[in-house]
Amino acid sequence: TEPLEAATESPKRVPTPLFSQLPRDVFVALLGELEMRRVAGGERIITEGERGNSMFILEQGTVRVVHTPENGQPRTLAELGEGSFFGEMGLISDAPRVASVIATRDCTLLEVTREMLTRLGARFPVLEQVVQQFYKDRLLDTLLK
Ligand code: CMP
Repeated sequence: TEPLEAATESPKRVPTPLFSQLPRDVFVALLGELEMRRVAGGERIITEGERGNSMFILEQGTVRVVHTPENGQPRTLAELGEGSFFGEMGLISDAPRVASVIATRDCTLLEVTREMLTRLGARFPVLEQVVQQFYKDRLLDTLLK
């Protein structure tokens, strides 16, 4: 987990948009709670249409976000890299996953459960705001595509 550790050393903030607004001590405390998962390139992390109780921070690696319209061809909505997060839509809207997310390289993920997001969001409204903003931007992006 070298990049994350390195990040917590440097000034005060960490580079993932989700946690960049948190004070360092809070982030460090949080790290202890986060479940780390490794997935191999080619593996599916999220399956469109399923329900989920987690979102994921991409600590290392890259993923592809793929939506398959009814009776249509799969379409790539986005490619995401280190520091980005995904799976927030299912948590915020309580709706089925709008797309599948597939590892395009070996990935290290940090899992954030619904419970964690609720608890942390109440304590640090800015966290909630960041997730909401991404949610809105992506929803719009997906509708326009
Ligand atoms: P969720 O619906 O829970 O699971 C699929 C995820 O793909 C979704 O949350 C978002 O995190 C992500 N996603 C969906 N649409 C886009 C998009 N247009 N750009 C980037 N990520 C997206």
